[in-house]
Amino acid sequence: MLKRTHMCGELRSDQSGQTATLAGWVNTYRDQGKGLIFIDLRDRDGMTQIVFDLEDVDEQVVTQARALRREDVIAVKGLVRKREGKANQRLATGEIEIMGTALEVLNKTETPPILPDEHDAEKIAEEKRLQYRYIDLRRPRMQGILRTRYNVTRIARDYFDDNGFLEIETPCLIKTTPEGARDFIVPSRSYPGQWYALPQSPQIFKQILMAAGCDRYLQIVRCFRDEDPRADRQAEFTQIDLEMSFVERDDVISVMAGFAQTLFKQVLNIEIGDIPIMPYKEAMDRFGIDRPDTRFGLELQDISDLAAKTDFRVFSDALAKENGVVKAIRVPGGAEKMSRKVTDGYSEFVKTFGAGGVPTVKYTENGYETGIAKFVGPIADKLKERLALEVGDLVFFSADTNVVATRALGELRNKLARDLELIDKDAWNFLWVVDFPMFEFDPARDRWIALHHPFTGPMPGEEDKLESDPGSCISAAYDLVCNGSEIAGGSIRIHQPQMQQKVFNLLGIDDEEAEQKFGFLLRALRYGAPPMGGIAFGLDRLVMLLVGTNNIRDVIAFPKTQTGQDLMSEAPGPVDPQQLEELNISVNPPEEPV
Ligand code: AMO
Repeated sequence: MLKRTHMCGELRSDQSGQTATLAGWVNTYRDQGKGLIFIDLRDRDGMTQIVFDLEDVDEQVVTQARALRREDVIAVKGLVRKREGKANQRLATGEIEIMGTALEVLNKTETPPILPDEHDAEKIAEEKRLQYRYIDLRRPRMQGILRTRYNVTRIARDYFDDNGFLEIETPCLIKTTPEGARDFIVPSRSYPGQWYALPQSPQIFKQILMAAGCDRYLQIVRCFRDEDPRADRQAEFTQIDLEMSFVERDDVISVMAGFAQTLFKQVLNIEIGDIPIMPYKEAMDRFGIDRPDTRFGLELQDISDLAAKTDFRVFSDALAKENGVVKAIRVPGGAEKMSRKVTDGYSEFVKTFGAGGVPTVKYTENGYETGIAKFVGPIADKLKERLALEVGDLVFFSADTNVVATRALGELRNKLARDLELIDKDAWNFLWVVDFPMFEFDPARDRWIALHHPFTGPMPGEEDKLESDPGSCISAAYDLVCNGSEIAGGSIRIHQPQMQQKVFNLLGIDDEEAEQKFGFLLRALRYGAPPMGGIAFGLDRLVMLLVGTNNIRDVIAFPKTQTGQDLMSEAPGPVDPQQLEELNISVNPPEEPV
């Protein structure tokens, strides 16, 4: 085999006159009929133009060169020379070309079902690209993403090493320990009827590592949650997972902010500066969401007191509910931009979040017009003042329980910003969201559920509320948000077994069940666990931000589809009946469709 001397992105004009051997894939092939064959040869690092002058090379090379087609794998030896015409500005190697003298076809490719062409990529169905992922990954953009992803993990390892963290692996086959999502489970052959679970995160193990005296732990780790994938969610995803001993909330926040600053500086050369901190309540009140995108305005305003003075049934019905509210968003200049059809579309949009619709009104030179104009008469001036309305504005209202109205407007706010192109694409708005409630009441199950996870502690000073008023107890959890995406979440943990037991009880887990499910954690806490706290960054989401994609599948080499399949390897798939027998498992045949 011809021995490679350079990568395809490497040669420049000062190497003219040298002999070089490159290997890679035929990206394009042009036979211009003048005795010259042009090839763009591509590898991981770039592309180089190769020219075969058919008059000048052996007969065998001529035959092979003529038979070349896209995606053939070849090695070429030749002389580097400056291009005769103009340099190709689009290629890093655009000033040179190689005059091929020797050619070796390393693998003749069958006609490829797709081509790794950036222009075509958008047009090819994603399913097809996932099925032939090895071809799709040859695209320079995908290679760039894989490299950025690698850089993030490299920078993380360096940064946390500098800060005294040790990378320690935790197991993938564990006891099922509910953390909020559904577990993937794995049958045990040695213990028929018993099951392992795949970790939703290494949460309990990293806490136990603190009890084990490891002090500062890092792991770049795969997590498994049997949930439906979404644009920013995969069932199998990766965390940069951390835990620290003898710390308080601000210690964790400051080490992690240092990581975010280092990462963005090294990858994008951006100074993100100090990261502001916002309490959860403020985030919900102003933005209607616990991961606010602060790159644009459109803030929510509570106008319940004004709404109570109108005769509008939708408002009065909402206010009659327990925790009923009326909230509004002012859209500057929206009156002109939004037709009835558009605002009706937004009403449909909020219905997917449980709201009844979004009443609207326009503020014009003639006062309030369209929508619910006739109802706002009694509050006309007060509403104008409260929302700082200017002529040409449009107002959206949401009236329901606080939870529903806030969520609907929060989601609408993000949609409006995208539709009206209000987002500054160059901005990087980081934000710590803190002071989350410990619990949320779930009326369906008639019990409290943990907002973060059951191992999160209360903020210092809040402990008594666990008994007296759990609903108002503030937790020591924190999320890091960037441009509206939650990129990390963590908390200071409960390190005393009595308090952990108390929180389990509040979550409807009695002592017996707690011992059965979490006994190993409780024992570790009983035998000397230090105060501790930590966080996990979503690696996939970080890379999404850094490379500018909304699709999590773009940043994972072999992702699953929206319905959880790996189309390339065809997983999930059937197993050999003998495997099931060994595991003592019998499967009910799926029901015949009626
Ligand atoms: P949490 O569940 O908040 O916390 O997860 C931490 C971060 O992981 C990312 N993430 C996901 N990314 C892709 N697909 C998913 N399905 C997915 N789920 C979560 C998010 C999120 O911020 N053990 C705790 C952390 C801790 O308390 O230290 C945990 O897992 O970016």
